[in-house]
Amino acid sequence: MKRIAIFASGTGSNAQQIIEHFQGNDNIRISLIVSNRSKAGVIQLAHTHNLPHLVLNREDFYHTENILKEFAVYPIDFIALAGFLWLIPDYLVQAYAGRMVNIHPALLPAYGGKGMYGKHVHQAVWEAKEKVSGITIHLVNEHFDEGQILFQAECALTSEDLPEDIARKVLQLEHRHYAKVIEDQLSRCSKLGYQ
Ligand code: GAR
Repeated sequence: MKRIAIFASGTGSNAQQIIEHFQGNDNIRISLIVSNRSKAGVIQLAHTHNLPHLVLNREDFYHTENILKEFAVYPIDFIALAGFLWLIPDYLVQAYAGRMVNIHPALLPAYGGKGMYGKHVHQAVWEAKEKVSGITIHLVNEHFDEGQILFQAECALTSEDLPEDIARKVLQLEHRHYAKVIEDQLSRCSKLGYQ
């Protein structure tokens, strides 16, 4: 059994999709929801699905490695970031090298980096009059949006699309692909003999 922790800061529509995708799977389980905001929609989602959750304390997260001890209890094998807005500290990146993925709502390396999240990304894509946008799923390293790219998918944009239309098209792609890419990366990890 492989156990996944989902990190999210907001609504958690991707988290919901991932939870539903793995429901009834005997080999992969969503074991924990982690957020930096106690009022995030994703915490409500954890309640709805009867999943344990953890609300991070900034001080603890960046200045201790306590979370690794909490993860060892389950134990957590894999981390999926789904709209999680804090930078991942080095100790956690190293502990989960190759076993932590993020989804970004644009075609990296364009429209990535600090401050490029959620609607800010779609606003920038709209202002640049891009004809395509899309999603990037990548491994997590110490920098925002810079780890090895595992998967990208594109959507066409028209001159009529407003930032909220771009957001809707991109979110559809996220929901269609993220859980499957997580599953593929988990099986790659198993083949490589990661814990
Ligand atoms: C998603 O679009 C995700 O790609 C984005 O936040 C949204 C979360 O939506 N992440 C980033 O911008 C990270 N840089 P959700 O809470 O409904 O899943």
